[in-house]
Amino acid sequence: MCLIAKLEGDHARVLGVGHVKSRGLKAGAVIDLDACEQSILQAVGAAEAQAGETLRSVVLSLSGGHPFSRTSVHEIEIGGREVTDADTRRVVQEGRRRLGAAPSATGLGPTTGMMGDATRGQTERYVIHTVPVAFKVDGSMDIPDPRGMVGNTLAVRVHVVTASSTVLKNLSNCIARCHLDIQDVVVSPYAAGLACLDPDQRHLGHVLIDMGAGTTTIGVFKQGQPVFVDCLPIGGAHVTSDIARGLATSLAHAERLKTLHGSALAADADAREMIEVPVTSDDQTVQSNAVPKAILTGIIQPRLEETFELVRSRLEASGFDHQTWNHVVLTGGGAQLHSVRDLAAHILDRTVRIGRPHGQAKLPKDLSGPAFATVAGLVDFALLPTADLLRLGRAKPDAKPGVFGRLGLWLKENF
Ligand SMILES: Nc1ncnc2c1ncn2[C@@H]1O[C@H](COP(=O)(O)OP(=O)(O)O)[C@@H](O)[C@H]1O
Ligand SMILES: [Mg+2]
Repeated sequence: MCLIAKLEGDHARVLGVGHVKSRGLKAGAVIDLDACEQSILQAVGAAEAQAGETLRSVVLSLSGGHPFSRTSVHEIEIGGREVTDADTRRVVQEGRRRLGAAPSATGLGPTTGMMGDATRGQTERYVIHTVPVAFKVDGSMDIPDPRGMVGNTLAVRVHVVTASSTVLKNLSNCIARCHLDIQDVVVSPYAAGLACLDPDQRHLGHVLIDMGAGTTTIGVFKQGQPVFVDCLPIGGAHVTSDIARGLATSLAHAERLKTLHGSALAADADAREMIEVPVTSDDQTVQSNAVPKAILTGIIQPRLEETFELVRSRLEASGFDHQTWNHVVLTGGGAQLHSVRDLAAHILDRTVRIGRPHGQAKLPKDLSGPAFATVAGLVDFALLPTADLLRLGRAKPDAKPGVFGRLGLWLKENF
């Protein structure tokens, strides 16, 4: 999906959106360069045609890449003077340097990772986000911006997200083949959280679950910042292939059955209600089988139960207290499935709502559903004020916010 927005001061005008079926990706990683390139070109081409503009650089959302999320506290001596911009950056960079090193080298070990990743902790990793969650000057805690304060020590609680270098390199090769530069990379639950959660919700503590095709990603927000991210390599595409296998139909028909009749929870009427399942026979003729809806729900529900149970165990393992993840927001294309909110509330034992983007990118009505949360959140990320970008440890002190302000910086820093 590609969204072109023009940044105008502190808001953005959406000029064009291109939405095509993604190909060549598995669990958020490129598995077929040509197919991936073609689908990027199609989405970008459609958005450019609508916008009447040619894209040169992009903010990319990352939903795979085996993200590791780690947080720790770092401290430097100030010596009783005012905290400067340079001090702030130095202490954050120190955190980035220590946490961004290969997990095995730091001895801290990853707190997260993808299931079944045999190379976990051994591959080279890149720092995607360096988020100062809060500063401390001497005894005063939870200072959002310490610059100008006087103290002897400056400490920061910093959250660093790293991702697999090979996954990133393959994605960046694909983008380069489309003649585009990468301006920034944002993990998808961070982007979706910026779009779907109010500043108050991000401050008090909310969990964002972004239900995509190949992945389900998790973001925990607190004190206004993402404090934990994780990724499960299961998504809506798995539900679709379960349906295709279970009902002996094509993937295209399975996808249609899911969106038209699918539900995450069984209802009493499901046993009586019949649905037509198209089946292609050996001589390629298409016939229809009438199947009770209960069979379809019986295929969908276990996969989603498994997904939310995994989400729950990742959240429990993250070490955040219950209060932090009392409120859960579901978003992404998969959040449109009937009754998914109720199933999530039951398994996570939390209040759950469906999140729609309502950030700075004003989307037309037909594009305002949960499936557009991540792409809308990329615009919100691009609009984070310079101070925030500085604090993310990316931009130069004099960098101006704007479409081309940080062009290439991300690549320069990371490749
Ligand atoms: N109405 C719907 N009901 C159930 N699933 C849906 C619906 N609409 C889209 N999806 C699923 O959402 C997934 C795509 O989500 P999306 O956020 O657009 O993808 P991604 O973020 O992975 O690019 C697909 O697996 C698709 O089947
Ligand atoms: Mg999505």
